[in-house]
Amino acid sequence: MKLTIARNSILVVFLLFVGMIGYGQAGNKDMEKLIDQQFKLAANQYKLLEKNVPDSMMPKTLNNKTNKVEVSNTKWWCSGFFPGSLLYIYEHTNDQEILNIAKKRLAIQEKEKHYTGNHDLGFMMYCSFGNAYRLFKNPADKNTIDTAAASLTTRYRPQIKSIQSWNKNQNFNCPVIIDNMMNLELLLWVSQNGGDQRFREVAINHANSTLKNHYRADHSAFHVLDYNLETGNFVGKNHQGFNDASAWSRGQAWGFYGFTMMYRFVKDEKYLQQARDIAQFLLKHPNMPADMIPYWDFNAPNIPNALRDASAASIIASGLLELSRYTSGKESKSYVAASRKIIEKLASEEYLAKPGENGGFLLKHGVGFFLANSEVDQPLTYGDYYFLEAMHRYKEWVLK
Ligand code: GLY
Repeated sequence: MKLTIARNSILVVFLLFVGMIGYGQAGNKDMEKLIDQQFKLAANQYKLLEKNVPDSMMPKTLNNKTNKVEVSNTKWWCSGFFPGSLLYIYEHTNDQEILNIAKKRLAIQEKEKHYTGNHDLGFMMYCSFGNAYRLFKNPADKNTIDTAAASLTTRYRPQIKSIQSWNKNQNFNCPVIIDNMMNLELLLWVSQNGGDQRFREVAINHANSTLKNHYRADHSAFHVLDYNLETGNFVGKNHQGFNDASAWSRGQAWGFYGFTMMYRFVKDEKYLQQARDIAQFLLKHPNMPADMIPYWDFNAPNIPNALRDASAASIIASGLLELSRYTSGKESKSYVAASRKIIEKLASEEYLAKPGENGGFLLKHGVGFFLANSEVDQPLTYGDYYFLEAMHRYKEWVLK
């Protein structure tokens, strides 16, 4: 009798275990199908987008009043996202037409390796040429990346141990913005791949100043710190956020992704702890909607009717997947689950454009600069880029 009960219990446990594996595999299969489908759709959308952009320009957004694609020159901070997105799409579809478009766009972007007019060289040159070099290992692309890192470093201000983001203007003296954390990847990569070691030092100094000065006690960040270069004093502001006390969502996303990336290169535990703390701020925030697509500002005045920002969601989804690699057990799984939830929501008809619509952009409902009424509730090239990157990472890191 006792033997039968024991045998039956073992059988039940065994069947439960097999069932759990089966369930996990089915879940992964669904995700694999979704991601493959998204990349195929993206190839068609981006062929359409290519037709809407003159050969010497880059796409910016689709104006929701005129229904026309707006474009920029290659000095605009977002110019690297189009070629970068095309390269992710090519990587997952092997579509030669997409590769040809990517090469054509990289060719017009290349000259910006010498640009020193702002801090956005990482976005511009690493999201584009960084991906190109990762895929094709062409020495000329590495040269472009190395030169861009040297250009970015000209903006380093040793007095404040930070890279100056924008030039002095009517609003700011020496502005350093949280977005700048993203551009450090360019510097760290170059130092790690045979380049000048001072770039790594600059990146570490900048990240340490950001950690010390940009963050509030609740692990939210100001958008801008305006420094006085003589005294080193600074004032915290929220240029693109709702007000100086609020938490602008994309800024929180940039900081989160940036500190996670810092840990990849430097392996300093304080960066990992910072990334975890920001993750908690984001994931546990009372104003984070259940579907995990943040309002454009965590303190936007008309929540729950405030606009969502799909671009902040994409950046968070991609950053969470990287953080899951540096953590373990339940914690790591919770980051993967949150990222998956975001990807699935962005791939739903609420956020994803119908084929042939949205000017060729993938995602709808990004918020560029709300208070300036610029690019509000419109597609954004970086929303698409980090959405594609998140799916690329999910496939490479979770499904393989
Ligand atoms: N880097 C500018 C923005 O996130 O809008």
